[in-house]
Amino acid sequence: MTNDQRGRESDRTVRTDSRPRIAVLISGRGSNLQSIIDAIAAGTLDATIAVVISNRAGAQGLTRARDAGIEALFINPKDSPDRDAYDRAIVDALNARRVTLVCLAGFMRLVGAPLLDAFPQRILNIHPSLLPSFRGLDAQRQALDHGVRVTGATVHLVTSQLDDGPIVLQATVPVLEGDTVDTLSARILVEEHRLYPEAIRLVLAGGWALDGRRFLTRGH
Ligand code: GAR
Repeated sequence: MTNDQRGRESDRTVRTDSRPRIAVLISGRGSNLQSIIDAIAAGTLDATIAVVISNRAGAQGLTRARDAGIEALFINPKDSPDRDAYDRAIVDALNARRVTLVCLAGFMRLVGAPLLDAFPQRILNIHPSLLPSFRGLDAQRQALDHGVRVTGATVHLVTSQLDDGPIVLQATVPVLEGDTVDTLSARILVEEHRLYPEAIRLVLAGGWALDGRRFLTRGH
């Protein structure tokens, strides 16, 4: 390769690298991860997934990532002496890959100070309810048991509190008579898959600000 060719090659690399570098943290199935992969492939989300990280070795999402040619890491919580050390191991992996936005997609762990401090207002989460209703596990079952007529999905900025933080986008889903956890979860999931790429696009576009808990976009 001549110097000229090398120059052109590195120009191309710089251009490829100019897309925002996001990370997706998962624990299981990874269908939301897949919706982000698909949105990028379809050209409706301008970003690159620099790495997918799971706290569970067998997570199906790790396979989805590898199938899409994305680096997939299992970071074992048992290798860290405590919760903060585990968070620091994740931060190290993210920083090494120059990640600027972290997307939790079914990542079933509380995020602690080391990760929050390293990515202030740069961590998103998706939750299968209209927050602040039905935080925590089994949000769809909680909605059914409560008898609400409408539930949905929420993408929010992550804080130290479980399923809390400023709300970026929400989508509503009606609860139908005869719904089971499975049928309701499936309908919510359709909305999740539309909502998450859209919320990531909005956050990456910038021009937003927080007013207390309120996430305000340009023009509001
Ligand atoms: C999704 O329904 C997501 O909203 C939920 O876990 C599921 C993960 O599915 N997250 C939470 O409940 C967070 N509190 P996926 O692995 O197929 O994306």
